[in-house]
Amino acid sequence: MERTWWKEAVIYQIYLRSFQDSNGDGVGDIPGIISRLDYLQKLGVTVLWLNPCYPSPDVDNGYDISDYCGIAPRFGTMEDFDRLLAETHRRGMKLVMDLVVNHTSSEHPWFKESRKSKDNPYRDYYIWRPAKDGREPNNWGSHFTPSAWEYDETTGEYYLHLFAKEQPDLNWENPAVRREVWKLMRFWLDKGVDGFRMDVINLIKKPAGLPDSPKAPTCAEGYSFDCELYANNPGLCDFFREMDREVLRDYDVMTVGETARVTPEFALDYVGEPERLLSMVFHFQIVELRDGFTWPKFKAIQRMWADKLWGRGWSSQFLQNHDQPRCVSVYGDDGAYRTQSAKLLGTMLHTLPGTPYVYQGEELGMANTPFTDISQYNDINAKFDYSELIAAGKTPQQALAVLNRYSRDHARTPMQWDASENAGFTSGTPWLMVNPDYVRVNAAAQESDPDSVLNYYRRLIALRKERPAMVYGEFTEYEAGRGDVYVYTRTLGDERLLVTLNLTGEPAEVRLPAEGVPAPLLCNYPDAPAADKTLTLRPWEAVIWNA
Ligand code: NOJ
Repeated sequence: MERTWWKEAVIYQIYLRSFQDSNGDGVGDIPGIISRLDYLQKLGVTVLWLNPCYPSPDVDNGYDISDYCGIAPRFGTMEDFDRLLAETHRRGMKLVMDLVVNHTSSEHPWFKESRKSKDNPYRDYYIWRPAKDGREPNNWGSHFTPSAWEYDETTGEYYLHLFAKEQPDLNWENPAVRREVWKLMRFWLDKGVDGFRMDVINLIKKPAGLPDSPKAPTCAEGYSFDCELYANNPGLCDFFREMDREVLRDYDVMTVGETARVTPEFALDYVGEPERLLSMVFHFQIVELRDGFTWPKFKAIQRMWADKLWGRGWSSQFLQNHDQPRCVSVYGDDGAYRTQSAKLLGTMLHTLPGTPYVYQGEELGMANTPFTDISQYNDINAKFDYSELIAAGKTPQQALAVLNRYSRDHARTPMQWDASENAGFTSGTPWLMVNPDYVRVNAAAQESDPDSVLNYYRRLIALRKERPAMVYGEFTEYEAGRGDVYVYTRTLGDERLLVTLNLTGEPAEVRLPAEGVPAPLLCNYPDAPAADKTLTLRPWEAVIWNA
């Protein structure tokens, strides 16, 4: 298997508006990130992925971009960005940007032109259709609104928006649009950035003819949100091929496609060797289990991806991001076993096949925030879900209970640096409330505690750099049917690592698959357990063995 830096990478996601504020306006910024680069270097991560930092009206927190080649003033200046890039590189790390080109902001100059008249040169940059039978051109629902179509009075037609109405979808069938995208990608790559995380990139190809969804309505207003229909459409790879030919092949960069509803089969079209149109993708099969989550399902999904992609294409691992609740609250135990379970999840993240993505604060075991009122939420998605739940007859308390499980705002509360006011994030008023547990859970407290989640992550990441089997080793699972433990090996030549994880708050016994007695390399308790043919793991215990 070809060895590359992005397979060996540990990627750290920075949601910059919540990372570190430097000027007291309550919003994280680029100088704030620069002031924390030493922390990131010490953590050992090798690539930083920056959520959108471009000028934006912020309807969807920066995923509605009005200028692709600028920096939003609230985050800093282009000089600040250049300094961030240079300082990141100087510390031996790389920087990856968010590429959001399924849609623009409705404030983008292209869209402002496009909506002016039907014969405007930019008209065809977006997807416009006349009314059908006096209403929307089809029954599509959007992520953040009931219908995916918005009527525009100026020209009497509808435009498509799979997200907010302020996020009109670009028309990728228009070669001029594609040329604009190649140009803006080159703008950042020529500055020296090391790749892109590509936002909802498998939605850029729309199904031919924009047919109605056959699905029953998914919202109170009668529209059908149908991501299977919007995603992975035939012809998508032609766009990727052109992108590769026109841009990517000239640079040593990585790409990771955010690809909803992707199966291993679709993924292989995108990441399969030798063509390798993208370096890797994010799949959402685990995250989408939601209330149906069980460990056997999790393990089966991991096994399927490992089996189908092994030797054929690379993959990624993430347990959370800025769109998901905190992983220790979802998969671990954010009460009694918070520290152990956060470390266990980190162990799994760094030892399953694929490049690991650490989301800011995950390395501290940051947990979900106890929001008590809809006014404390910021996210457009939370507000939409809340209004739909109320429309469906739920009480405010019931609607809040749903949001409290899944809201994206759990991930977006400010980074918890220390126990001072606002967790050391800002000297002003934070744009989103700080999780009140910051007085206990923060980086400063964990820095001096050798058993902290933070110090464990440092050891884990260091181990990944020392042990190629953690990156390139073949994955074999044991005790596969069990929901209480996760046992697997990663084998590369003579090197065999055994990972034993107890996924519960009760002791669990496992039979060791190794010949002879394995030697512990890393354990999330201060002392590693004794192992013979069997092993009793303590609650949420995680051990990596040399086997
Ligand atoms: C996926 C991003 O991760 C999410 O935050 C955003 O709302 C949508 N794409 C739309 O860009």
